[in-house]
Amino acid sequence: MCGIVGAVAQRNIVPVLIEGLRRLEYRGYDSCGVAVVTSEGPARVRSVSRVAELDEQARESHFEGVTGIAHTRWATHGAPTVNNAHPIFSRNALAIVHNGIIENYEALREALRAKGYEFVSQTDTEVIAHLIHSLYKGDLFSAVREAVQQLAGAYAIGVVHKDQPHTVVGARAGSPLVVGLGSGENFLASDALAIAGSASHVVYLEEGDVCELTLEGVRIAERGGSEVQREAREVLAYGGTVELGPYRHYMQKEIFEQPGAIGNTIPATDTFEPELFGANAREVFKGIDSILILACGTSYYAGVTAKYWLESVAKIRTEVEIASEYRYRESVPNPRALVVTISQSGETADTLAALKHAQSLGMEHTLAVCNVATSHMVRLTELNFLTHAGREIGVASTKAFTTQLVGLFILAVTLGKLRGHVSAEQEAQYLKLLRHLPAALNGVLALEPQIIAWADEFARKENALFLGRGLHYPIALEGALKLKEISYIHAEAYPAGELKHGPLALVTEAMPVVTVAPNDALLEKLKSNMQEVRARGGELYVFADADTHITSEDGIHVIRMPEHYGLLSPILHVVPLQLLAYHTACARGTDVDKPRNLAKSVTVE
Ligand code: F6R
Repeated sequence: MCGIVGAVAQRNIVPVLIEGLRRLEYRGYDSCGVAVVTSEGPARVRSVSRVAELDEQARESHFEGVTGIAHTRWATHGAPTVNNAHPIFSRNALAIVHNGIIENYEALREALRAKGYEFVSQTDTEVIAHLIHSLYKGDLFSAVREAVQQLAGAYAIGVVHKDQPHTVVGARAGSPLVVGLGSGENFLASDALAIAGSASHVVYLEEGDVCELTLEGVRIAERGGSEVQREAREVLAYGGTVELGPYRHYMQKEIFEQPGAIGNTIPATDTFEPELFGANAREVFKGIDSILILACGTSYYAGVTAKYWLESVAKIRTEVEIASEYRYRESVPNPRALVVTISQSGETADTLAALKHAQSLGMEHTLAVCNVATSHMVRLTELNFLTHAGREIGVASTKAFTTQLVGLFILAVTLGKLRGHVSAEQEAQYLKLLRHLPAALNGVLALEPQIIAWADEFARKENALFLGRGLHYPIALEGALKLKEISYIHAEAYPAGELKHGPLALVTEAMPVVTVAPNDALLEKLKSNMQEVRARGGELYVFADADTHITSEDGIHVIRMPEHYGLLSPILHVVPLQLLAYHTACARGTDVDKPRNLAKSVTVE
């Protein structure tokens, strides 16, 4: 999603700005641009192609400058055209880049039109540009501080003005922004990753902060207006681009990295102790009486799976809510609930807003299951469990999901033990199951050639149904989401028992029905549901545990999974669904790692 990079230096900073954009590219964008300050006003190059094309334009036109701002845009207001690409100008004096959405932009636009401002783009960003311009009286820092008070919505911005050629001003509320400290030069970015290496330290701006970067240093003013000092943290050097190695796409690489990522996520301890979640977790866990899980997309499905574990293993009442719904719903807060947020990026706007909403309702016990240690979410929560999936580049989440499941299972067993529902013997068994998981996953990954054969058939379909029951219903949901987001095939998932209550009407010979068939307590029920499909001519594609003894026959295609893996079975069963989606998308020739309309880190509402 949108990315910001800005810098003030004594050298040509354009290559650094463009390199920053390149590092943010994997998040998804549809246009990009860079502006520098010149004595005649800001100058810019913009592109609706890739950052590489922007770089080419900049090199060819000898586009250079010591102070500048750059952006990757994921369109919200206005189509992805060059004209709507950032940086956006105001009267050839000021340039701005913006992440987020301004909710009161229509009212502001009318007020600014009345003052004579002309609007040349369809963006909500242009109102911020003109607003700051209208308030500018020789000090950009003051003008931005005044302007942001009039903004409703979410924003992270970077602004430059021709009359202050060595100044960049930034501000944030609802969207992340960091300041980078270099030697004799300073930086601004929506993610430390973009400026790591150029900046040795970063300062994470707080909600409502406005900052001013000059060659001499950085000033930060908090929402109330007074200047504040914020802690500077060391930023690790940029690890470089992630090599694809023998894989065709990052998604395929990340699917195959799952055994390692899971191995890295399982702690090296022999027992499940609350301290795995933070120093004061024991005390917090003892005081809670329920769990409220908040997340979006794939992370939400991890939460739905966790509900089954938390209720069956820890015997603790658990609710799971889609973050974007919860934040706007009138709910009954329970101060004794532990609020668990799940996120790969830790920057998802809806999940962060839902977390803050829960906190504002008096739910102070919070825990993040997250893949990014420095993320906003980890900083906002009392406790955390870090998944060690490594960088996930493919937009479709894979290894982040399975490592989240590992973290959530560990939470369930830890709480179960603390609450007296998990014996020492069971604890040892769960640990053994976890430790063997990477090897078991390797067995599932070896099924890839059989899945490729199925994918060739799926590539010719336009619809698919996914069925699962109990603990594997969320896995069916995740399988359907993977298929639709990267292959663009319409897919729906149902708990298999629901079929006869409506969706069975969709079943014909043209409808492939993917079935997740573990050898668990619901197997016989599931087999009856499969018969309901067969009786209507539906083609079944079944991922069956070896010990189910389900075999291929007319209209029933079976890929044999390893033997049933108990409570951790969902982690094995999601992998062939990821591979099926991946190879179907490859067969259809879609842009697997950057599916249309989607972004990796959804930092707007
Ligand atoms: C789907 C996918 C998304 C994310 C969702 C939440 O493959 O990746 O549905 O799971 O946008 O993102 P995070 O986990 O970063 O909060």
